[in-house]
Amino acid sequence: MDELSNKVAIVTGSTKGIGKSIAEVFSQKGANVVVTSRNLSLAKEIVKNLNSYDTDPIAIKTDVTIDDDISNLIQTTKDHYGKIDILINNAGYPLTSEYWDSSFTDIGLEGYKNVIDADLLGSIRCCKAVIPIMKKANSGNIINISSTPAIAGHDKGAPYTVAKAGLLGLTKHLALEYGKYNIRTNCLALGNIKSSATFEHFDSKTQQKLANETSLKRWGDTNDVANTCSLIVSDNFSFVNGQTIVIDGGNVLL
Ligand SMILES: NC(=O)c1ccc[n+]([C@@H]2O[C@H](COP(=O)([O-])OP(=O)(O)OC[C@H]3O[C@@H](n4cnc5c(N)ncnc54)[C@H](OP(=O)(O)O)[C@@H]3O)[C@@H](O)[C@H]2O)c1
Repeated sequence: MDELSNKVAIVTGSTKGIGKSIAEVFSQKGANVVVTSRNLSLAKEIVKNLNSYDTDPIAIKTDVTIDDDISNLIQTTKDHYGKIDILINNAGYPLTSEYWDSSFTDIGLEGYKNVIDADLLGSIRCCKAVIPIMKKANSGNIINISSTPAIAGHDKGAPYTVAKAGLLGLTKHLALEYGKYNIRTNCLALGNIKSSATFEHFDSKTQQKLANETSLKRWGDTNDVANTCSLIVSDNFSFVNGQTIVIDGGNVLL
């Protein structure tokens, strides 16, 4: 039997990059994936591609900054499958120069609010909606997608660092409060993963420089993240809770 057979997994922001790979790998392993995006037709396209697996994926339009969208996401998923086993909080504010390449003082408060609203509050909204269902089932898995600056700090992208650091705290809190309901919450702190959002943001010299910063001397592949996610939510990781796992090719070492 496939590792994630019949599991129901919501992956926020699964039309591109890392979220799309998670949706694919989970489907390969037998999970029924809920593909979400602010763009429904794009989400439906992804679902069409997932239909080659013997699973039952669905697409739901979701902006994680909108409360009603989250309510609809959770209710529709529950109505369709009768349960929710896995939540991957992957959706993140786009990597814009405006917030990434500007200094802390030059970014207006609105910039901080925008990134925190998507990356941190978006994850909190999804967790608040899904936990009562997982609690009732006495079973669940949540993964929050964070970033290495949340651990090591960085001299750029302050809104991202602040929002992603909040996810580390959220992970620890949920693990400690809901572990007794067999809900495991873990976090991934990602280094440079080759999605179009990041890789293409940099010129080739910077791409190479960033690769050289890692002990493995390369960018991560989106599947590197997706494969780790599928392991963490599997029973092989059943005693791991509240941890942040760094996936960065060996740069930030704990
Ligand atoms: N790639 C890296 O090197 C790296 C490093 C560290 C952390 N991360 C984190 O990993 C996650 C995925 O990154 P990625 O590189 O794959 O980015 P990406 O290619 O830009 O994908 C981001 C996804 O998030 C969705 N999204 C954005 N804002 C949203 C919102 N308000 N509501 C719902 N969905 C929203 C997008 O979907 P739509 O536009 O279709 O709505 C898209 O599917 C992010 O949380 C990012 O911060 C990435």
